[in-house]
Amino acid sequence: MQHKLTSLREDTAFGRQASSVWTVVDSCFDPTKASSAETVFALSNGYRCLRGTHLFAESSLPGNFFAGLFDCSDSAIPELVNCPDPTPLRVFIDYERVSAGNEGSVMFERTYDLSRGCSKAVMTWKAATGAEALIESERFVSLADRHRWCETITIIPGNFSRRILVAAGIDGDALANRGHPMEERRHLSLASAGFFSGKENDCASGLYLSARTIDRKIGVCEARALYCASGSQIEKQRRGPDLVESVWSLEVQEGVPLVFHIAGYSVTTRDIDYAGSDTDEALVRTAFEGLQSFVREGPEAERAKHETAVRELWDAIDIEIDGDQRAQRGLRYNLWQLATCAPPPGDERASIGAKGLHGEGYKGHVFWDTETFMLPFFIHTQSETAKRLLMYRYRNLVAARRNATSTGCCGARFPWESADTGEETTPLWGVNYAGERVRIWTGEIEAHITADIGFAVLQYWQATGDNEFMRNFGLQMLLEICAFWAGFAKFEKESGQYEIRDVIGPDEFHEHVDNNVYTNYLVKWILIRTVEAASKELASDPASVAATLRAAGLELECLKEFSRVAGLLKVPAGKDTLLIEQFDGYFDLDDPEITRWDENGMPLWPDSLDLGRIDRTQLIKQPDVVMLFALLGSEFDREVKCANYDYYEKRTMHKSSLSPSMYAMVGLPLGRNAHAYEYFIKAVETDLVDNQRNTA
Ligand code: BGC
Repeated sequence: MQHKLTSLREDTAFGRQASSVWTVVDSCFDPTKASSAETVFALSNGYRCLRGTHLFAESSLPGNFFAGLFDCSDSAIPELVNCPDPTPLRVFIDYERVSAGNEGSVMFERTYDLSRGCSKAVMTWKAATGAEALIESERFVSLADRHRWCETITIIPGNFSRRILVAAGIDGDALANRGHPMEERRHLSLASAGFFSGKENDCASGLYLSARTIDRKIGVCEARALYCASGSQIEKQRRGPDLVESVWSLEVQEGVPLVFHIAGYSVTTRDIDYAGSDTDEALVRTAFEGLQSFVREGPEAERAKHETAVRELWDAIDIEIDGDQRAQRGLRYNLWQLATCAPPPGDERASIGAKGLHGEGYKGHVFWDTETFMLPFFIHTQSETAKRLLMYRYRNLVAARRNATSTGCCGARFPWESADTGEETTPLWGVNYAGERVRIWTGEIEAHITADIGFAVLQYWQATGDNEFMRNFGLQMLLEICAFWAGFAKFEKESGQYEIRDVIGPDEFHEHVDNNVYTNYLVKWILIRTVEAASKELASDPASVAATLRAAGLELECLKEFSRVAGLLKVPAGKDTLLIEQFDGYFDLDDPEITRWDENGMPLWPDSLDLGRIDRTQLIKQPDVVMLFALLGSEFDREVKCANYDYYEKRTMHKSSLSPSMYAMVGLPLGRNAHAYEYFIKAVETDLVDNQRNTA
């Protein structure tokens, strides 16, 4: 069977409907692509994310993630914990499971409805006994009350009237990195599980499973209840070592839709202060009470509140594109996923991981992706969210100071990868494109993130005019960032300049390079802008600057030092040419040509290339010089930008999903319209067509 995600490559019948700019449709069940579809159909509300499992098949890579909930267990670095899966649901007609991919499956389709913030799966089924039914399920993860999620199931029997069975449970066998023999591990041990006793159609007929992470001891409790207005009967309750499940029987009538809801409530010990009480008991009680009030209010009331919240969100974030459904749908899909990954109001302890909350990619860690690629969207649509994301970094200044000290510098150095504590969490070892085990250097030397965060603070301040933030937090961050750079850049007698040696720029194909132009230019710019901002504040409120300097552990003299380093910092520029050299010696490298592209238009490695030594060539992973134009385009002449865009674009392998969007953004004002459009489409289709081959 051919799997069809309605993406921009291929419009299905559904995709051609007028409403298609609000929907993503998967019109066929393909077990080999189940994990990717689970990512695409994931529903998040920023507090948590449920991957897009569905009742018509066993889950492929189930995932239930909570923002900021990390643990190590036997891993050297913290990972976003995959929590117990509260979604398992099976429907049986004449004792046969309704299941996609089986003979009885006549039609299967899934839809992501962006306008209502829900996903739907529908199937028509013919049992071996001849019983026929249409079954539909719709799930939302509430944006109104972020602990609540709900699945509504409608069953319409075509030609029979009798009892059917529904089994719904919570699966505590949550494994991290399922299927990876070296990395598979458990982050949780079961604390308690069972059934709430009481009358039916109350959460009394619900079940719960509570678990605790191995070393951080964070508790997470999932509770769920089946809610059916027309009556249900519990036939069986089952408790295994890692599972709790109830089997209900429901009476159905030929041609009459039967509707029931699964109401879910989730809570973790991160959410509530449990001082003085037995944590697990208190956690389970909170879950019980939460579920009880959810069931009492009714799933439909929550749906209405969720949809109101979804509409309000769209009012803040939507961008309309006329005349291009493909671009519109793709853009909306990404706007939605990005906006619903932001930690909810009040939570400054979490940020947004490079893979959102949608899976275990990069262990849920936070990179420069957040400040450089995501933050502008929030600054211009929901500035309070942008501020929260910056506050995550502010709260982690203590760890950033330790990180700077460990490299012999003062000030603050932010980690390349960050989890819950703000410490450096980059793994030390990985596998390169040739399949060889290699040392990962990014944690030690991809220093530009500390400039990126400074840039983000300035950008937020400039766009919002939030002087209070700047006075209380932003300026301190900038001063500590500058203090780090003033120590990290070294004066070299030979050149008579400050240089920044042994780093990795945005292009990670080249490690241990000197004077990466992106890094040096940005550092210089931040040093200058910080001194300007501090001097301005000094003139209006010297006491406030004095307090900020004290908090940063710095003296007023540091401003002079920052200006001096900025003035003498080497910024590589093209000699007799418009071209800017990405780092010292880049133009001396081999220059193989990219001549082939895959079916998604993504470059293929040149034939003769030694994948273990890409660093000997001018091929780049993602924009680096062009990245500088994306941030500070107004500082460069158009002809310089054009020359460099054309040069580096030809050498870019786009091995990061951060790459195409930047070539779109920078290319458009340079008149590279065809390129810009092509890259824009690649960017918005990244996960819809899986052009990085990692959507799963
Ligand atoms: C990219 C980085 C990015 C990271 C997380 C890497 O492949 O090269 O720029 O921060 O992925 O998305």
